[in-house]
Order: sequence, then C-alpha cells, then structure tokens
Amino acid sequence: MEKTFAIIKPDAVAKNQIGDILAVTEGAGFKIRAMQMTHMTRKQAEGFYAVHKERPFFGELVEFMTEGPCVLLCLEREDAVVKWRETMGATNPANAAEGTIRKRFAESVGRNCVHGSDSAENAAIELAYFFAGNTLS
Ligand code: CMP
Repeated sequence: MEKTFAIIKPDAVAKNQIGDILAVTEGAGFKIRAMQMTHMTRKQAEGFYAVHKERPFFGELVEFMTEGPCVLLCLEREDAVVKWRETMGATNPANAAEGTIRKRFAESVGRNCVHGSDSAENAAIELAYFFAGNTLS
C-alpha cells in the first residue's frame, strides 16, 4: 500500500463539489486516511508551491489557493501516486481524459480543482507539510 497527498482546491469547494470528488476518489479504490478543511495562509501556499516560485503563474497560483477553503487529503491504495494522477487527469483540463476528475470538474489549467503529488518522495514531503504524524493512520 502507498499513500499520496491530494487537495480539493478552492474552486471545487466553492462549487460544492467536495462530495462528488470524494465519491470518484473512493470509487477509484482509494481509502481516505486523513482529511482536513483549511483556508491556506499566503505563507503556507508559497511554501507548498516553492518549487514553482520562478514560474510566471506563481502569483496567480498563490492567490487562487488562498481565495477560500480547500480540503487536504491523505489517500491510500496500491500505486497511489500514479493511480491518483490517472484519476485526476491532465493538469490542463482541456487535455484530460474522459471520466477524469479534471475533465468533469476543472475550469482551466490554473483553476484545476485538485492536486496530487508527482512522486512517492514528494507525497511524503507534502503529507508532512500539512499533517501532523498522529493524524495519519
Ligand atoms: P498542481 O498540480 O496543484 O501543481 C502546480 C499548479 O500550478 C498546477 O496544479 C496548476 O494549478 C498550476 N499551473 C500549472 N501550469 C499553469 C499555468 N500555465 N497557468 C496557471 N497555473 C498553472
């Protein structure tokens, strides 16, 4: 079993899509091992996305991720990192496959409704960034 880190982003929370996205998530075989709603501070968002700080969209990304509450998730299943990225679909919903979360719910490459770690190493780093050890089962 493997864990990955996911976020239901502020656009999807504002549109009341938490339940629909969690239903797809559980339907794809993921166990929800930790879940927390939070309204990220600017400092948290800048730290989380620090790897993108030289990108032209960094300011827009931080604004978006702090505009309202989001849902932080620890998801578990076999091959969780790869399977969650398949379940989400491509970063740009215009390129996302039919049936994926981003194809169904995302508005644009910037406002793309969910996040997922891109490797097992980053999943461990991202889970530790938001969840204290004792909140992960
Ligand atoms: P995420 O998987 O959370 O990780 C980085 C985020 O940067 C990505 O989702 C998008 O929301 C955002 N992003 C990537 N490319 C662009 C872009 N060209 N314009 C705006 N935002 C982007």
